[in-house]
Amino acid sequence: MTEALRHQCEAIKRAYPDADSALIPILHALQDAYGSITPEAVEDAAQLMNLSPAQVEGVTSFYTLFHRQPHGRFHLQVCDNLSCRLRGSDQLLAHLAERWHLEPGAPSRDGLFSLERVECLAACGYAPAAQINLRYYYRLTPEKADRLLAELEDGKEASGERV
Ligand code: FES
Repeated sequence: MTEALRHQCEAIKRAYPDADSALIPILHALQDAYGSITPEAVEDAAQLMNLSPAQVEGVTSFYTLFHRQPHGRFHLQVCDNLSCRLRGSDQLLAHLAERWHLEPGAPSRDGLFSLERVECLAACGYAPAAQINLRYYYRLTPEKADRLLAELEDGKEASGERV
């Protein structure tokens, strides 16, 4: 761990009255620094938080926002659960594979996008739903997805229904 990263994590820890509450934000900082939750990130978090690596693993494996493989700059999580499947998520995923060469678990060649098929995003009334980084997008069609990804590719703010 670099000195700068250690200082950043210690500052996060000090910001919480109960230091145990700092684990998740520290894991986000480590993930940002390492590109994913690497074994080194788990060790660093365990040391910083006085936890065992197994305790840190228990947290990182529970939350879907922590990932083991490097993601693209824009990580698409497409829901493929019941409501979204009934409203076309499988066609959407097939389109993303064909048009954008996005397959779950493999970032695009330029590192811009990565794709993950996920369980319910709790947006079933707006199916099919997807999350890109921390933002939700609703009622996605292949055409809307093309527009959205093209905007992101151009460095623009992506349009579409979102929260
Ligand atoms: S089934 Fe897709 S958001 Fe719930």
